[in-house]
Amino acid sequence: MKPAAQRVPTAENEQRERIRTVIHAGADDAVSVVATEIAELVRKNVKSGKPTVLGLPTGSTPVRLYRELIRRHRTEGLSLKTVITFNLDEYYGLPRTHSESYWRFMHEQLFDHVDIPAANIHVPDGTVPRADVFAWSQSYEQAIREAGGIDLQILGIGRTGHIGFNEPGSGRDSRTRLVTLDAVTRRDAARDFLGEANVPRHAITMGVGTILDARRIVLLAWGEAKARAIAEAVEGTQRDSLPASFLQGHPAVEFHLDRAAAAQLTRASRPWLVGAVAWEPTVTRRSVVWLSQHLNKPVLKLIDEDYSEHGMADLLTEQGPAYGLNIRIFNELQHTITGWPGGKPNADDTHRPERAAPHPKRVLVFSPEPSDDVLGMGGTLRRLVDQGHDVIVAYQTSGNLGVPDEEAATAADLVLEISRADNKLSASAAFAQEVRRQLSAKGQFDGDTPDIRRLKGIVRRGEARASLQACGIDAKRARFLDLPFYEKGRYRQFRIGDADIASVVEVMREVRPHQIFATGASGDPSSLSAVCFDTVCRALSATASDPWRAGCRVWLYRGLERHWEPAEIEMAVPLSPVELDQKIQSIYHHKSQRSQQPTGARGADESWQRAEHHNQEIAQAYDKLGLAQYEAMEAFQRWTQA
Ligand code: F6R
Repeated sequence: MKPAAQRVPTAENEQRERIRTVIHAGADDAVSVVATEIAELVRKNVKSGKPTVLGLPTGSTPVRLYRELIRRHRTEGLSLKTVITFNLDEYYGLPRTHSESYWRFMHEQLFDHVDIPAANIHVPDGTVPRADVFAWSQSYEQAIREAGGIDLQILGIGRTGHIGFNEPGSGRDSRTRLVTLDAVTRRDAARDFLGEANVPRHAITMGVGTILDARRIVLLAWGEAKARAIAEAVEGTQRDSLPASFLQGHPAVEFHLDRAAAAQLTRASRPWLVGAVAWEPTVTRRSVVWLSQHLNKPVLKLIDEDYSEHGMADLLTEQGPAYGLNIRIFNELQHTITGWPGGKPNADDTHRPERAAPHPKRVLVFSPEPSDDVLGMGGTLRRLVDQGHDVIVAYQTSGNLGVPDEEAATAADLVLEISRADNKLSASAAFAQEVRRQLSAKGQFDGDTPDIRRLKGIVRRGEARASLQACGIDAKRARFLDLPFYEKGRYRQFRIGDADIASVVEVMREVRPHQIFATGASGDPSSLSAVCFDTVCRALSATASDPWRAGCRVWLYRGLERHWEPAEIEMAVPLSPVELDQKIQSIYHHKSQRSQQPTGARGADESWQRAEHHNQEIAQAYDKLGLAQYEAMEAFQRWTQA
């Protein structure tokens, strides 16, 4: 194995980073820089009469880059006629025509809209017979060599730390080959394939060694789900269990990240370890919590030596000694805990996360699709209602893309059965019969017809109502926005329009909320939750001068990707064992979202199990810091528009 390149950091706070990493305000800024690099490379090579060989990824991450290249091609005269492309990977067993094939993805997202000659495009062939895969893989490598090698390899990264489909276990010298997909990767692709059972088990991918042969490598990553893999790849040791870490051995590699994907790099998460910091309140709290967790000591037991031995002597000088600092942070943490998420009426609220007045409050909860609400804040929802608040839950999308065909078939059969008992074919039975027919005519991976989507949406509405009722909320409090961007779109390809914003504005103006709860603020910008959050932000901008806005607070909750760490939490709502059980019950009503495999086949992967685990972990983290011991907690952060 090659030794890690000795990277010379350009700034003190990058000293732990073994890969040059640029953190951007958002994905669009990053994409603009990378598109410029590609454009300049192509133009430079054209001048010297050379083609430009690009290695390209698929997935959510590069979609914005491809859109930007298309835009430059259309409006800035960027020609890609001299570009030769090699894609990283392809699902094994999928023909090019399959809706989820990477060949099709690349054509839809890029190739059909720019002037790269068809003969210059290379995507691994997922249909090569098993016995020929080895020879085919060698011919792919040969084709790369014949093209002169890859000038610029663009990469995304999987949550497992994979690059291409080089899953954990892939060696530094691996070459193009057939691989088995990791369980996490297959779960991440489940939505695209309408169920995990349909996700191919194998893929053909360029190897880590093939990728490292490129003259220049640029990796892109957006959203909090990638933060752990990024931190490990950039700061960890090179190892097979995290293939992206091998990029450290490349002399010309660069990562371009948004803030959420960079959040776990030391310079972002523990900046005091890599240089002087301004000890603002949030940094101070984060550092004390970190020290307590790192030493496995409750906050109130930390002593001066603990601080000075862990690079925090200047914090002591500024805000010490430890005794007083500990008490202050302990109190701050204590004040985040409240059993009154809507504020406690007639109580002193100086140190409470929410205002006492008015009571009751009008509360508007945005749920990207049915079930996000209860997964993220099912216990808090129940408390809000029990404490007399006026709660409306707005389901932004119908969630119909997440319903397996079997569920739609069962629903259609139910309607047909009822109509048979009635002895006449009602309009709804005729609809059910038509859906049944369309389901039988549908190939395994075909997209759904509008009728099928409609029925699937109805299935999810029923589940959402039952789930709300299990939380003690009258089903009439639900609003189903069925935002058009979703009804017309597919995962990764959603684009919001005026009608989407108008619909969110309308529900805001109907409710005139004192509290809004929303999720998706730090997801990959093309993820459904982030797109939905964008509609909320835009609707907030559109209503900025409405009178109700002055009294409205926005609280963020999180989905199953990652829960908040105690230092990030501004409101923690404890759940008793009974409340946790009730929350699980309400999640359980989202039957179409449960694993389609028999119980036990998937371990602790069901969404209700993950939610339970998250809520217990938050409570345990508070407990370890020396605060009260609760069964579980839901957590929130206050959001203000930048
Ligand atoms: C795709 C590929 C993968 C993806 C990675 C991230 O060609 O090579 O390594 O880059 O799985 O996927 P997204 O971007 O969908 O999060």
